[in-house]
Amino acid sequence: MATQLIAIANQKGGVGKTTTAVTLAHGLARAGKDTLLIDFDPQGQCATSLGMRQERGVFNWLINGEPLKEILRPTGRAGLWLLSGNKDTAAAQILLSAQNKPVNFIQRQLQPILRTGLSYVIFDTAPSVGGLQERALWASDFVLIPSATDFLSLEGVGMIMDTLRTLHQDHAWRGKLLGILPTFYDTVTRESQATFDEMQKMFPKRVLVPVYRATILRECAAEGKTILEFAPGHRATEQYQQVVKRLLEVT
Ligand SMILES: Nc1ncnc2c1ncn2[C@@H]1O[C@H](COP(=O)(O)OP(=O)(O)OP(=O)(O)O)[C@@H](O)[C@H]1O
Ligand SMILES: [Mg+2]
Repeated sequence: MATQLIAIANQKGGVGKTTTAVTLAHGLARAGKDTLLIDFDPQGQCATSLGMRQERGVFNWLINGEPLKEILRPTGRAGLWLLSGNKDTAAAQILLSAQNKPVNFIQRQLQPILRTGLSYVIFDTAPSVGGLQERALWASDFVLIPSATDFLSLEGVGMIMDTLRTLHQDHAWRGKLLGILPTFYDTVTRESQATFDEMQKMFPKRVLVPVYRATILRECAAEGKTILEFAPGHRATEQYQQVVKRLLEVT
């Protein structure tokens, strides 16, 4: 099977992108699929979420030209590797645009690693639009959009959908939308319910089964553990495991 590249994206901040990227990457690894998580966000929170330090990362790879294979790191979890992000990623973002790199730049840089037999590469992305985001999205076979279930977040989904449409139309991107993953879903508040219903109306057949609001996900990030290892059997763990299953079916 060819390596599948999956981007987790939404221009809106704080909607669960990193949580989703880290949890799905770990879930795929636990399903026996060798997986590399690449953190394209200068906040570098994939490392923190996995209990690791931010070391050499995206800047060293894309700007300094260090081989990805030499700078990715094992995460202490079978089958899961990380290329971290850090504040230098912001400089990489500026340089990529200034140097006017082609839209397929990241895809080309990924080629050597795709020959090593990885099953999945998961991209976590920053809550912004820019040269790095655009090129990461362009490299991906699938895009998953986490979105919180509140009214303002619906706007964010519209924006990222527009970005994907532009990539298709103007840059002949061949990837697909994997779906919209509602996060912070709350059965108690009316807003959450109403937003979820509205989301399904606006994007028919695109909306996945929601991940509920669960404080334990915050604790996981603080502990540097994914929910799969921190709280097996928790409702949020099962919800994320459903998404992993869906990924395995679709890709
Ligand atoms: N379903 C959830 N329920 C409760 N808390 C959550 C949930 N998902 C994520 N969180 C917490 O919410 C915060 C934001 O999540 P996360 O960092 O994954 O979002 P993000 O979209 O990556 O943010 P950014 O746009 O800043 O990169 C974190 O503290 C995380 O632990
Ligand atoms: Mg994030």
